[in-house]
Amino acid sequence: MPDPPLVEVRRVNAVAVLTLQREEKLNAISPAVERELVAALDGEEVRASGAVVLAGAGRAFSAGADVDELSGLTPEEIVAYYADTGAVYERFAALPQPTFAAVHGYCLGGGLELALAADFRIADETAVFGFPEVELGILPSSGGTHRLVRLVGPARAKELLLLRPRFSAEEAAGFGLLTDLVPAGQAPARALELAAEAAKLPRLAVVVTKQAVNVFPETSREAAVLIERLAYAALGQTTDAGDAARAWAERRAGPRE
Ligand code: COA
Repeated sequence: MPDPPLVEVRRVNAVAVLTLQREEKLNAISPAVERELVAALDGEEVRASGAVVLAGAGRAFSAGADVDELSGLTPEEIVAYYADTGAVYERFAALPQPTFAAVHGYCLGGGLELALAADFRIADETAVFGFPEVELGILPSSGGTHRLVRLVGPARAKELLLLRPRFSAEEAAGFGLLTDLVPAGQAPARALELAAEAAKLPRLAVVVTKQAVNVFPETSREAAVLIERLAYAALGQTTDAGDAARAWAERRAGPRE
């Protein structure tokens, strides 16, 4: 019998749902998990999807990077790791379609970095967040420290990294980390609901908008406005934009109605 997959991939209509399935280790992210996640991101189910949901099976979203397998690496091994399976965080962040992390239970360290690499985080009230890295003598290094600063600002980022070993879903919502906070057990369903709505939108417009938002924090206002107008000029020529304009003129329903 082959080992069961560490990452389950399924399609729910236009949405790809990826579920971490290393329940007995609270979905600790080992290189093997990362390798399957990379394969899932490269796979047809994700590539053809209009949105992606990432969830965790069992009692946690993820208790973080696998400390048994990923601690004590030499500098050379760390460079090699990020050139290999450790690239999965950036790969997930770079997906063109909207991405949703559905979080319950522990969401710590690398698990939280993975959730931060999603566009949206939907958590249920059981979610427990935290960055244990500094306690371990390191720091979140899979893009999470930078993403956190972007999301919540430097002072709050330092607070979460240095002063708060754990914080609740309600607190995370207050810090602006969450798109939605839902009752226990409902994060995957709510994430799927939002993802299905996003997947109905014209795909090229979604991709270009997501990419524009991703680069704008690094872009001058003048360059950003130019990108907006060039993107508008290009998107305005698409079949989707033509169809939407005709639907409006004929008072027909749009993609989300
Ligand atoms: N890496 C590797 N294994 C992990 C893990 C991690 N990050 N987090 C949990 N596990 C494993 C445990 O070792 C245990 O395995 P075992 O049954 O073979 O001993 C299993 O998952 C269940 O965890 P356990 O500690 O028994 O559950 P708990 O409910 O008592 O505690 C945590 C949960 C999350 C508080 C605790 O597991 C923990 O502190 N994990 C490490 C968190 C961490 O530092 N993550 C950041 C890494 S950057």
